[in-house]
Amino acid sequence: MSGLCDGRVTVVTGAGRGLGRAHALAFAAEGAKVVVNDLGVGPDGAGASADPAQQVVEEIRAAGGEAVAHGGDIATTDGAASLVATALDAYGRLDTLVNNAGFLRDRMLVNLGEDEWDAVIRVHLKGHFLPLRHAAAHWRAEAKAGRTPVARVVHTSSGAGLLGSVGQGNYSAAKAGILGLTSVAAAELGRYGVQVNAIAPAARTRMTETTFAGAMAAPEDPAAFDAMAPANVSPLVVWLGSAACAGVTGRVFEAEAGRITVMEGWRPGPTADKGARWTPAEAGEAARKLLAGAEPPPPVYGAP
Ligand SMILES: NC(=O)c1ccc[n+]([C@@H]2O[C@H](COP(=O)([O-])OP(=O)(O)OC[C@H]3O[C@@H](n4cnc5c(N)ncnc54)[C@H](O)[C@@H]3O)[C@@H](O)[C@H]2O)c1
Repeated sequence: MSGLCDGRVTVVTGAGRGLGRAHALAFAAEGAKVVVNDLGVGPDGAGASADPAQQVVEEIRAAGGEAVAHGGDIATTDGAASLVATALDAYGRLDTLVNNAGFLRDRMLVNLGEDEWDAVIRVHLKGHFLPLRHAAAHWRAEAKAGRTPVARVVHTSSGAGLLGSVGQGNYSAAKAGILGLTSVAAAELGRYGVQVNAIAPAARTRMTETTFAGAMAAPEDPAAFDAMAPANVSPLVVWLGSAACAGVTGRVFEAEAGRITVMEGWRPGPTADKGARWTPAEAGEAARKLLAGAEPPPPVYGAP
């Protein structure tokens, strides 16, 4: 049976559990060889275990697919470089990078510690940048050698990055930063055959099942559509990671249950130009007039 990703090699970070695991299984089901990265940390990023990545590799192999595990920390240069090297050593090529790994350390801003800020910015934002950078260096070398790849990168943002989320200042900032990184990567890397898009998913994983238990619950009837299963997000990710999405780059999609939404970002609204410097009072008056004709921002998740 032919698959959408036959002959392609995909790296998925944080693929030992949750959404990453679902993506890895879905890529393998479409014929990709998969590098299953996971550091095997706890929900707050503490600890480490090789087991989650190895289990997903075994699941893929049991279903007749090909996969290898990588247990490195993707927010380090060594981890990111060895991740790309694992794909090249095991399969001789790299076609798709799915940046997905991460964890939470939620707290209201007045109580948010510097260590909690640093840990969450590091794992999500640096954890996207470093694998992207190492994969992109490989693809640029391929392009310069006359073998322009059909390369794809899928980033993982969040509703928290799009709209903000109360109690998640660190996470919201990191996930918004990923959107900026996605735009720049799409603009810089297109010439090397690399397309870069982002998703904002929602699904039942250990990251969400306690906070949003009711909304995430599986249906009682096993025959009913399990809307919040992580596997519902993966089909779009597989398409964005395949050659089939030619021409689609720098875009952001929300993906949840059976729904896919293209997110439309910041754009200029009402504007005024004095043609000279405003006084502060004039600037305030002008700003108020403009705001009266502008769309109000969408509500922040969890805001009163
Ligand atoms: N679940 C949702 O509804 C939801 C919503 C929005 C965004 N997201 C994002 O989706 C991604 C996946 O989240 P999930 O819900 O599947 O969570 P999860 O906790 O089930 O899985 C995340 C995986 O990442 C791994 N990981 C953490 N730090 C790592 C590191 N430094 N190196 C390698 N692996 C590491 C963990 O061990 C874990 O297996 C995250 O980026 C998350 O922020 C999830």
